[in-house]
Amino acid sequence: MNLVQLFNFTHKSDERGASLIAIEGLKTIPFAIQRVYYIQINTLHAKPRGYHAHHQLRQIAICLSGNCRFVLDDGLNRVNINLDSSMNNQGLLIDKMIWHEMHDFSADCLLLLLASLPYDSTDYIHDYLQFKQYLGMNQ
Ligand code: TYD
Repeated sequence: MNLVQLFNFTHKSDERGASLIAIEGLKTIPFAIQRVYYIQINTLHAKPRGYHAHHQLRQIAICLSGNCRFVLDDGLNRVNINLDSSMNNQGLLIDKMIWHEMHDFSADCLLLLLASLPYDSTDYIHDYLQFKQYLGMNQ
């Protein structure tokens, strides 16, 4: 399976000089949206974030402003993908059981996250070795 899955959103521009981007759960993205949150960077020195996987949660990340780099890891392969605001009509899938990290935030970075489930601290896997164990990769 491809680690990098980007979903394209409907993009409507007209003579009024703005664009409107619409996202519908189970239509433009593969799950119903139960939670929305955003990460707003407002420093030049923001530290990397994430460093976890989720047992059940599926998420879509959209970069509304600035840029950052995502790391996605399925236990076998690790990829880097840069998101920037020119991709604000695209969403990156962070699927369940995908280790993810966010790095290299620009000072103006604004990330919108669409989540398939309510917040649940017990859904997190914070330890990479434990993540591999859950995947059946005992090393
Ligand atoms: P966390 O998911 O660890 O952030 P990141 O993936 O960016 O490293 O969340 C940071 C804190 O915010 C943590 O204390 C949990 C809290 N939080 C909520 O209360 N609700 C939420 O929907 C999310 C995503 C986090």
